[in-house]
Amino acid sequence: MAASDIAQRAQFLRDQLNYHNYRYYVLDSPEIPDAEYDRLFRELLEIEAAHPELLTADSPTQRIGGLPLSGFSQVTHRQPMLSLNNAFDENEVIAFDRRVREAAGQEIIEYEVDPKFDGLAISLTYENGVFIQGATRGDGYTGEDVTQNLRTVSAIPLRVASDTPPKLLEVRGEVLMLHKDFAALNAAQREKGEKTFANPRNAAAGSLRQLDSRITASRKLAFFAYGVGEVQGWKLPKKFSDIMQQLKQWHFPVASESEVVQGVEGLLDYFQHLGGKRDKLAFDIDGVVYKVNDLQLQEELGFVSRAPRFAIAHKYPAQEEITQVLDIDVQVGRTGAITPVARLAPVFVGGVTVTNATLHNEDEVRRKDVRIGDWVSVRRAGDVIPEVVSVMEDRRQDDVREFVMPDKCPVCGSHVVRLEGEAVARCSGGLFCPAQRKQALLHFASRRAMDIEGLGEKIVDQLVDNAIVHNPSDLYKLGLVKLANLDRMAEKSASNLLAAIEKSRSTSLPRFIFALGIRNVGEATAKDLARHFGKLDVLMAANEAVLTQVTDVGPIVAQSVAQFFAESHNREVIEQLRAAGVHWPESEPRRTHGIGALAGKTFVLTGAMPNMTRDEAKERIEAAGGKVAGSVSKKTDYVVAGAEAGSKLTKAQELGVTILDEDGLLALLNPEAQGKLEF
Ligand code: IVH
Repeated sequence: MAASDIAQRAQFLRDQLNYHNYRYYVLDSPEIPDAEYDRLFRELLEIEAAHPELLTADSPTQRIGGLPLSGFSQVTHRQPMLSLNNAFDENEVIAFDRRVREAAGQEIIEYEVDPKFDGLAISLTYENGVFIQGATRGDGYTGEDVTQNLRTVSAIPLRVASDTPPKLLEVRGEVLMLHKDFAALNAAQREKGEKTFANPRNAAAGSLRQLDSRITASRKLAFFAYGVGEVQGWKLPKKFSDIMQQLKQWHFPVASESEVVQGVEGLLDYFQHLGGKRDKLAFDIDGVVYKVNDLQLQEELGFVSRAPRFAIAHKYPAQEEITQVLDIDVQVGRTGAITPVARLAPVFVGGVTVTNATLHNEDEVRRKDVRIGDWVSVRRAGDVIPEVVSVMEDRRQDDVREFVMPDKCPVCGSHVVRLEGEAVARCSGGLFCPAQRKQALLHFASRRAMDIEGLGEKIVDQLVDNAIVHNPSDLYKLGLVKLANLDRMAEKSASNLLAAIEKSRSTSLPRFIFALGIRNVGEATAKDLARHFGKLDVLMAANEAVLTQVTDVGPIVAQSVAQFFAESHNREVIEQLRAAGVHWPESEPRRTHGIGALAGKTFVLTGAMPNMTRDEAKERIEAAGGKVAGSVSKKTDYVVAGAEAGSKLTKAQELGVTILDEDGLLALLNPEAQGKLEF
């Protein structure tokens, strides 16, 4: 390709990518599949790598972040970024409108009204249409240069969408994080055991102020424009709302909730109307902003100290308030997850009275160090469950008490277990626990489990709510009369359901194992377990080490399975199911050295072996189902003695315990190679 063709191709790709980025992030209406976007993106990356001279400031490849900075430099705003006066009630709004009317000598004022975004104010500078600098508000006069980071925000145009852009354009707006991205970020932080962010605003601020722009790029930030600063080479229209229209045409994201209204009634209606939608918005707002729409009048009204006379923010009730933790107890979710919940002194927050707030999990309680009796900051925003954000440590009294995670499920009394590496503790009585009943039954009946056609959510709800069915075994005791008496259940569908239940009595072992709803045991694992163990009783007797011998079963699944069968409540329900006639063909366990080879055998290791460390030997013995003990007793089956074995060897000899060397141990571990000890 000729050099000029390559340059043209690069320009074409930039334009395409910028356009599709706009369709995706600003209009939320993509035109091409992600894969196609990625293809164009890679092509541009390749061209720029081969021809660095073609790299431009508005290239979408610059959105992925660059090398970390050692610090941010200062930027002096061409026009100061001022603040707004607040109105906390209607009277203050009425007074504002009166002042404007009197100064203007007009009966009725036209206002442009928008949400007051609860994020971070920023200023974006475009020279001849190209984004060249982005800065935080700072003290209003000087902010920090966060250009690199802002480039990674997909909703910020890298170029003004116009063939005749202004010579200079400063766009003012707010960077924020949408609720869904905030929830995902905190969930990921929690999962990693890292600090969570108190609210989307803090998360946005923390993400924007990263010296490493690649971190900013990995956080999903949003942007909305709400005005302009210095403008050169574009004649401003007469109305503020027309500036916003123009920004939209230049591909800047503008809140779809913005409107133009007349007079103070228009303002108050808008406040009510948006307030009603506040919980459903995708982002936090802390109020609405009213701006005089006539730009000439705006100029005449001017400023008092650092705030304009032509605009005011009308605030909604705060989404974060302080209250006291009266108690901390736990809630059991549908999947058995046990969540600590703070019981609070009632507090009005985010427009409702809140008395409970989630503390997510035990680690989070410790990380935030929330204690019973503490004063805490509680947040409720959008549809999100209220949560305890932080503790007011300076208000802590001596009599606060620490939370203790219960070891029994408060709903069913089964053991509470927390699997290794998991943040969440769970009730282990999956088949038995009333909190998990509905979920367990629906799963049990599902197509790939027991395949009971017709046992849907509505019927399960009624069966459980009317205390007809407590656990899956009760399904097999149902009669036609009970079923036909349920709401919206005709006799025909009742008898169809009975037939489906009857049919499910005869099943297969993989289906039955899957139907039990053991955490981390999907259909494929259920099949692996069934194939490996052949019989349910053998599976139920397997310990974790034996379970990890199964193809594709790692320590986490092994733990889940072992915990499930260790819970006596679950074993009882399984017995009841068998007693009710649920059956399946069984087979012989697989001939493998793994299961049972060393099951039930106790080893003691002493002295140094030539090839294996003691840890390795222990691991391999346990993986084959054996146990390794620290001292020799009558119960010891084998002592593995290496060089310089000491008193343990003597003791073994005294007790007549079998003594093995490394080869002897290997022979036990690997019976197939030796042709003995097969299961
Ligand atoms: S207009 C002269 N519009 O509120 C000031 N500000 O208290 C013009 N804010 O720092 C600001 N949403 O970050 C305006 N729709 C909106 C806004 C908004 C949020 C923030 C902005 C500013 C603060 C002023």
